[in-house]
Amino acid sequence: MMARSRLSSSWTLLFSLAILLGCLVIPGVSVKHENFKKCAQSGFCKRNRALADDVSAKGTSWSSPYELDHTDLHFENGQLKGTILKTVSSPQKVKLPLLISFLESGVARVTVDEEKRINGDIEIRHESQARKERYNDAQTWALIGGLDLSKSATLSAETQDGFTKIAYGPDNSYQAVIRHAPFSVEFQRDGQTHVQFNDKGYLNMEHWRPKVEVPAEGEQDVLGAKEDESTWWEETFGGNTDTKPRGPESVGLDISFPGYTHVFGIPEHADSLSLRETRGGSGNHEEPYRLYNSDVFEYELNSPMTLYGAIPLMQAHRKDSTVGVFWLNAAETWIDIVKSKADTQTHWFSEAGQLDVFVFLGPSPREISKKYGELTGYTQLPQQFAIAYHQCRWNYVTDEDVKEVDRNFDKYQIPYDIIWLDIEYLDDRKYFTWDPLTFPDPISMEKQLDESERKLVVIIDPHIKNQDKFDISKEMKSKGLATRNKDGDIYEGWCWPGSSNWIDCFNPAAIKWWISLFKYDRFKGTLPNVFIWNDMNEPSVFNGPETTMPKDNLHHGNWEHRDVHNVNGITFVNATYQAMLERKKGEIRRPFILTRSFYAGAQRMSAMWTGDNQATWEHLAISLPMVLNNGISGYPFAGADVGGFFHNPSKELLTRWYQTGIWYPFFRAHAHIDTRRREPYLIQEPFRSIITQAIRLRYQLLPAWYTAFHEASVNGTPIVRPQFYVHPTDEAGFTIDDQLYLGSTGILAKPAVSEEATSVDIYIADDEKYYDYFDYTVYQGAGKHHSVPAPMEKIPVLMQGGHIIPRKDRPRRSSGLMKYDPYTLVIVLDKNSQAEGSLYVDDGETFDYQRGGYVHRRFHFDGSSLVSEDIATPGPQTAAYQKTIASVHVERVVVVDPPKEWQSKNTVTVIEDGAKASSTASLEYVVQGDGKAPYAVVKNPNVGIGKTWRIEF
Ligand SMILES: *[C@@H]1O[C@H](CO)[C@@H](O)[C@H](O)[C@H]1NC(C)=O
Repeated sequence: MMARSRLSSSWTLLFSLAILLGCLVIPGVSVKHENFKKCAQSGFCKRNRALADDVSAKGTSWSSPYELDHTDLHFENGQLKGTILKTVSSPQKVKLPLLISFLESGVARVTVDEEKRINGDIEIRHESQARKERYNDAQTWALIGGLDLSKSATLSAETQDGFTKIAYGPDNSYQAVIRHAPFSVEFQRDGQTHVQFNDKGYLNMEHWRPKVEVPAEGEQDVLGAKEDESTWWEETFGGNTDTKPRGPESVGLDISFPGYTHVFGIPEHADSLSLRETRGGSGNHEEPYRLYNSDVFEYELNSPMTLYGAIPLMQAHRKDSTVGVFWLNAAETWIDIVKSKADTQTHWFSEAGQLDVFVFLGPSPREISKKYGELTGYTQLPQQFAIAYHQCRWNYVTDEDVKEVDRNFDKYQIPYDIIWLDIEYLDDRKYFTWDPLTFPDPISMEKQLDESERKLVVIIDPHIKNQDKFDISKEMKSKGLATRNKDGDIYEGWCWPGSSNWIDCFNPAAIKWWISLFKYDRFKGTLPNVFIWNDMNEPSVFNGPETTMPKDNLHHGNWEHRDVHNVNGITFVNATYQAMLERKKGEIRRPFILTRSFYAGAQRMSAMWTGDNQATWEHLAISLPMVLNNGISGYPFAGADVGGFFHNPSKELLTRWYQTGIWYPFFRAHAHIDTRRREPYLIQEPFRSIITQAIRLRYQLLPAWYTAFHEASVNGTPIVRPQFYVHPTDEAGFTIDDQLYLGSTGILAKPAVSEEATSVDIYIADDEKYYDYFDYTVYQGAGKHHSVPAPMEKIPVLMQGGHIIPRKDRPRRSSGLMKYDPYTLVIVLDKNSQAEGSLYVDDGETFDYQRGGYVHRRFHFDGSSLVSEDIATPGPQTAAYQKTIASVHVERVVVVDPPKEWQSKNTVTVIEDGAKASSTASLEYVVQGDGKAPYAVVKNPNVGIGKTWRIEF
């Protein structure tokens, strides 16, 4: 849910009135640009861009003032240590400690810090407060491993010739070439340079300097130009003044990808998957891509503007190679992108902190996913229910309302798993309470949901109503657990409850306290089927600068908010995650948390959604590249509000949105408080039935979805994948971001996202046959678009030949009720009559899978027999889990485009491991005309899903 608009203090009265009257004005359709900074309104952005312009203008007559002190270089245990000297003005040099770590994984990490000077030359106004150090703790929140140092990396040449070269990576086939003066680094793979640091010379570490009250006349910088000091010590935007006790301290660097024409990543932006140039020109952006987590009101499309979350991971891609960089910095960050003929040059700058960059040399997108995940963690394997359909709106207004909605889904036989409560369930907007008038009996509501294995999600935000008689407010303040303002007092701002304070989850004591609030005896009215939505955690502050916290606020450890802003949101999710684990001793279930704000690492704890979108066709369309981009950036559990949050969708738009939303890993409908009710059963026919069919398709494919989630949880692959990721050598597909592949299943969907569509053009990269999911119409022909019918009632989706897709075909009320349902396997043969697939199943709730409590099968069809083989790694829980699903069978095998000879067959032979004798099952061969492939159905082969078996055709 959104901040209504930024409110100056004179607006606060109006705002409280609006709440009192419950009259929330639906605002206009365009973002309030004046609320958010453009580069020219951000001091450090302007300075770094100006530097880039100056350097470019000077060309070869300019040399970067950074040089490596070659007399002081040490290479040991996979790390190169040294000092970069920045010439400030002759003879003054600033020392910047450099550490280049070569990791066992083949990833290189370059860290540049600034020497802490204690001789008084850095003047800090708030002596005992803002910490005089470059923030180096983003890793605590973002990283969980992958930092083992390489044992084989070697110094491969002497340092005399002005270069230091280190061989590293697999078989030492990578090389880092470090030039001493000016300092630059080239990262090579197999003798070719793929990534360059400071090749353009934009490296910039604004060193700390004393504040001189009257700026020296004509003081010159290294460029020989007068530096723009106007925003060094103070900066005002929209009536808010940001004081900067440490002065200017931004870090900037150019990172070039020679030979690469596409770059992807750096979510979150409402833009195409392939990132655009940012220095103007036709079709390009004028502004750099910005990463500064914000509650952007009515966000704009095809824009580099910042949104709610930030993942500073970028990958560069070309026909035969993918490489990437991860810029680990929690401060406000901007990224310029410029492309020349065959190269992409990027320019990164952050307001504060260390320079800390990881370099991945690929060579494929999968390796980027894998290596990045080793560092920041993989997607938490969610509970089964979490990947089913979520029903949300602002708001279900009473507990009776919730029960009624629940009954209606059953009445109309529409499956759903989770119903959500937005802020109106609260007593006076106080978290951990229930409105006594509208939600007098939450327990009976939760019990009713539990009868069909359904769940409730309630919203809990980081702003705590500032009220003495509210025990949680009192505790937080008296224990010193709130974020402080620049003067060290408890920070107060405006949010949903009116005057609020913010929990500071950087503080371990705050996390401990937060955990205590979720215990069942403390958070009254909650049962184990209640889960949590963390919203507004950018944090959103209605009367704050850019709708967030002042940058000079202080967090635990005296770090400024400036230093930590982009990780702030995940510290709150982390605390909630731990709280959900510890609700009750002995009752350990996988937490489910939805977060709006995120940073690298959030995938370990939560799902995300793209925030407050609008009920327009354009917003529907942009949701695909946004979700895909999150997927390739390590955070695939992503979705957009189905139906659009603001405004009322037409029936057609709503229906198309469901048909699209079933392909989001996180599939939730949501709506603004001022919109009309739009639960699917309220929509008139034929739309109701069409939406029902779409949701049922999601449920039918839940086994495939869960398997894809499992894959993401062990190797970081996206759950839905863009074209370039699946076909990395097919250049014509690199910019395609409106069709997607579900995991490794070969399912290729292209939702219809325009009004009155009757067909879509699906791009096929290879010469395999692709089959319509529903009627097996064949599409074949590499490197071109194929028109696939998409009348209202039809979801355009194909299956690539060569795959085996697990399904559950019996419609149920919820996924929980499908747990022991039998499976259908769909075998789609490739050109050589082969197919392969896999299935991962576990209890869908606990962590037993970590001790072997799961089933993992590989299915293979070799032309004449279908085999199920075990690919699990057994553990102490394996046998116990196997037992629970001993009775779960395969009830149907469908073979699409089977050999013609099968027409004369009536039976197949079934051989199950451990069975005394083989058995037979019936085979039916169905011929279709009209471009539709024939198919064969094996009825009830009756093999156990967890067993090893073979079916001979
Ligand atoms: C939460 O943060 C702590 C560090 O404060 C870390 O040890 C823990 O692994 C984090 N939890 C998750 C799920 O990432």
